[in-house]
Amino acid sequence: MAIKTIILAAGQGTRMRSALPKVLHDIAGTPLLEHVYETSRKLDKNSIYIIYGHGGDTVKRQLEKLDATWIEQKEQKGTGHAVQQAVDYIADDDTVLILYGDVPLLQHHTIEKLLNKVDDDSLALLTVNLDDPNGYGRIVRNSEGRVIRIVEQKDADMETLKIKEGNTGILAVNGGKLKKWLSRLESNNAQNEFYLTDVIEMAVQDGLVIKTTQPESQDEVLGVNNREQLAYLERVYQSRRAKELMQHGVTLRDPSRVDVRGSFESLGRDIIVDVNVIFEGKNTIADNVNIGPNCIIKNATIQAGAQILANSIIDEAEVGPASRVGPFARLRPQAKLADHVHIGNFVEIKKSTVGSGSKVNHLSYIGDSEIGQQVNIGAGTITCNYDGVNKFKTIIGDNAFIGSDSQLVAPVTIGAGATIGAGSTITRDTPENQLTLSRVKQISVSHWQRPVKKEQ
Ligand code: UD1
Ligand code: CA
Repeated sequence: MAIKTIILAAGQGTRMRSALPKVLHDIAGTPLLEHVYETSRKLDKNSIYIIYGHGGDTVKRQLEKLDATWIEQKEQKGTGHAVQQAVDYIADDDTVLILYGDVPLLQHHTIEKLLNKVDDDSLALLTVNLDDPNGYGRIVRNSEGRVIRIVEQKDADMETLKIKEGNTGILAVNGGKLKKWLSRLESNNAQNEFYLTDVIEMAVQDGLVIKTTQPESQDEVLGVNNREQLAYLERVYQSRRAKELMQHGVTLRDPSRVDVRGSFESLGRDIIVDVNVIFEGKNTIADNVNIGPNCIIKNATIQAGAQILANSIIDEAEVGPASRVGPFARLRPQAKLADHVHIGNFVEIKKSTVGSGSKVNHLSYIGDSEIGQQVNIGAGTITCNYDGVNKFKTIIGDNAFIGSDSQLVAPVTIGAGATIGAGSTITRDTPENQLTLSRVKQISVSHWQRPVKKEQ
């Protein structure tokens, strides 16, 4: 059976009070609509149709990469009208699944549960029991407990409003039947809209059984209508991710103070993560890595036993085994540390390799460099890699020792075993195993007197 997933995403989202279309607001850095897309993509034999409208071009442009068919709903005349826009794509023997671009946290297994209930004689409907069903369509059941219709809040009488079982809007049904019912929808209701929910009563009249199922938790079917709900669902999402990490064997010092905005290409065991750490993009983190508080780890590879100390940023960089970075260090794209490297406070490394056992412990900028093994770079050393127009390379051989506060003006090569005297400005290549320094000779003036303040 082929599944056609229709994601409704044409609504305006006025209550977001935003210039950005609602479905482009993000949870964990990913647009709401993309969350829904990703969940439905896990289904077999599924093609995805996105109904867009309000701010549609922006939505389409930003999410064009999604493997989906975009269908415009020019005017938003209700959920039924939205689904009508897709009828040309629905074959009679398809199963149609209806999802919502602003209901981001629906889980895959809930969809599976729903799809397991649908067949030629049954429509599958996801409902939810709510303490406060305000705003939801109400599920009306007959004396035998069978669903007979859905009544929208605005069309409901006092009795119906007491019903606590709400419509999530998520349903699955045979395509041929749905098309027939859609063509018969009318808008003579409180909102003058074409309600998708009206197909329930039509299905019952045609002898179908409405089979309901419920999500594991209400959070799965909550929609985003305002920023408060967005923030709430962000937390729900993050607590799911934190649980996954712990189940995998990661220690989180506080599961409510870690944010995962992306995925892990691979994740080892006995990783320890202190508070307020943000993981972004695709990270690879090996066994026994220790990450201190307030770090941002983005598209990084961190190898076994490495330590990232407090307040460090690792951005598209690689930290080798048993290396130590931070506190307050910044590794920028294409920084690559071998094993047992130490990078200390207020050190920035960009597009550079640092060899095994080398140390850059304090207040340095290393850019476009190749640093050998067992090199010691003193405090305040700067590679001057940029002349304002072009970038140049600095190469430092094994066992070199760069004295504090040196400037290495690239292109330049420091020979293996070379020592650079503190405070030098190095503009030419330096030989191996020699001391090179460039400083004005120190002098002392014996009869010099300090100036004294003039009388006024
Ligand atoms: C809908 C249901 C209601 C259910 C509730 C759950 C109907 C008639 N009612 O009500 O039973 O309890 O969702 O949240 O279906 N949309 C379009 N085009 C349109 C109208 C809506 O794409 O013309 C999209 C919206 O972007 C939104 C979704 O459909 O994602 C739901 O629309 P909304 O207007 O919020 O429906 P509700 O009144 O909340
Ligand atoms: Ca709604």
